[in-house]
Parts: sequence; structure tokens; C-alpha cells
Amino acid sequence: MTVAQASPAPDTATPILSVNNVEVIYNHVILVLKGVSLQVPESGIVALLGGNGAGKSTTLKTISCLLRAERGDVTKGSVLYRGERVDDLTPNELVRRGVIQVMEGRHCFGHLTVEENLLTGAFIHGNNRRQIADDLEKVYHYFPRLKQRRASQAGYTSGGEQQMTAIGRALMSRPRTILLDEPSMGLAPQLVEEIFEIVQRLNAEQGVAILLAEQNTSVALRYAHYGYILENGRVVLDGDAAALRENEDVKEFYLGMAGEGRRSFKDVKHYRRRKRWL
Ligand SMILES: Nc1ncnc2c1ncn2[C@@H]1O[C@H](COP(=O)(O)OP(=O)(O)OP(=O)(O)O)[C@@H](O)[C@H]1O
Ligand SMILES: [Mg+2]
Repeated sequence: MTVAQASPAPDTATPILSVNNVEVIYNHVILVLKGVSLQVPESGIVALLGGNGAGKSTTLKTISCLLRAERGDVTKGSVLYRGERVDDLTPNELVRRGVIQVMEGRHCFGHLTVEENLLTGAFIHGNNRRQIADDLEKVYHYFPRLKQRRASQAGYTSGGEQQMTAIGRALMSRPRTILLDEPSMGLAPQLVEEIFEIVQRLNAEQGVAILLAEQNTSVALRYAHYGYILENGRVVLDGDAAALRENEDVKEFYLGMAGEGRRSFKDVKHYRRRKRWL
């Protein structure tokens, strides 16, 4: 395990994606990412953890080239995918190279059916009907619930089904890397497990690399191989998921498992000072 600045990928694999010292500014003035570096190994599941406003979504949007749409600019650093710089591509070009983001808040087209939603993800590789049918079958194989609900209007399906639809739609583009923003948000624990298990299978069986932004540290560290903790636009800690799960600071500040029981307000006040990594 390493602290702060150094962020080596696990030495078991070469990175497919690497973010190098990236700085992001919104609206020309709001500095949000202050030199973020991280790596995703080929076929890895990497968790990007941190509280509200830490910069998780901004990091994912930086990679997927979606920042410009939000008046965000990368003012320093670089993003490499398979060794090539990708920070100047359009989101579509990046999808063609195999990287797609599933946005926070499971954006579905509410008035379209589940299947129509999935089909909107297929356009990127042209119009080969046979291929599209195969891809659809693959999505239904991983998400049998969506097959049952294929003709339902997406807006009337459950939150979990909408999250599955959003991931399924991303799969229709045949990604090699998926950037998944808060898949657990607003879902019951059992559904969260169901979704993470499917993501894990996609990774293991299809070799899809996953970069996962999550506030739910506990779940994310059970499914990820490696994790980065982001605070206030900086990586403050990174390491193998198993090591992070055992780290005292992570336990105390992110897993709510402080040894001494409930923390008093006074402890909370000294929150930052007591952090060993700051
Ligand atoms: N389009 C924007 N314009 C200006 N500031 C923004 C914009 N998007 C995000 N921010 C700010 O950037 C910071 C990081 O936001 P970001 O959404 O990346 O955090 P996050 O870690 O994903 O948080 P959450 O867990 O709440 O989703 C926040 O302070 C947020 O207010
Ligand atoms: Mg976010």
C-alpha cells in the first residue's frame, strides 16, 4: 500500500487506462481536480472512492471526454488509453475505441421501452442487425430481469431495473472498459449486490475492465481489486482492495467501523487532524 502521491497499478497487469496528474477547472475558475493520477489494469476492477463532491464523477467525465459539455477543462495532465492520448477525443470517438461511461443517476429514456433503450446504445457500430440481435441477447443473458421487462416503458420500471438498463445500454456498444458512476445510488442492498455480482461476472467472463466511482466503500471494496480514495480533488490513499479494507483509517472514516464504538461530536471535529494520511 502506498500513501498519496504515488499511485502504482497493481504489478500483476499493465494499465489499459492511465490518468496522469490531471487538473480540471470548471467555468474557468473552479479548480476541482488537483493532480489526480490513477491506473486501471487490463481486465481489472478499480474503485474510485470518496464522499460527496470529492471529484469522482469529474474524474470519470474527464476520462470519457464528457467534461466539455459541462464547461469543464483539463488544464494539466493527460489521459492514456492503450498507450495513446485520448483527452482530445469526442465522447463518441472514445466509445468507438471501447470506453463508455454509465452516468450517475441511471439516465434512461423514460418514454421508451427497456429494449428500445438498449437499442439506443447499439448505433455506434453501424446497423448490422445480426450483430445487434447478438448483443441484445448477451445483455439479456447477463440481465435476465431486463428480458422479462423488455417491453415495459423504462420510466415505470424500478430503480434497479433502470440501473440495469443503463449498464445494458452501455454493453450494446461492445465496450472493453466501462466507467460506472455510483451504480449503488438509491438502491436497496440486495439489488446493489445483484448488480455488483453481474458487473463482476462481466469482468471475469468478458474481460471488461471496470472503473467504478462509489460512495458505498464497503460494497465497492468487496468487488474491486484495487481502490483509490479521493478527497477534495486529490488521491489521498490507494492500494489493493483487501489492504484498504483492513486499513484503520479506511475502516474508521469510510466503513464506519471504529473500534471504540460510536464517535462523539468532538472526534468528528478533529476528523481531518486525526487522519494519518493528511
Ligand atoms: N459542472 C460543474 N460546474 C461547476 N462545478 C462543478 C460541476 N460539476 C461538479 N462541480 C463541483 O466539483 C466538485 C466535485 O464534484 P463531483 O461531481 O466530481 O464529485 P463526486 O465525488 O462525484 O460527488 P458525489 O459523490 O456527490 O457524486 C464539487 O464541489 C462540485 O460542486
Ligand atoms: Mg458523483
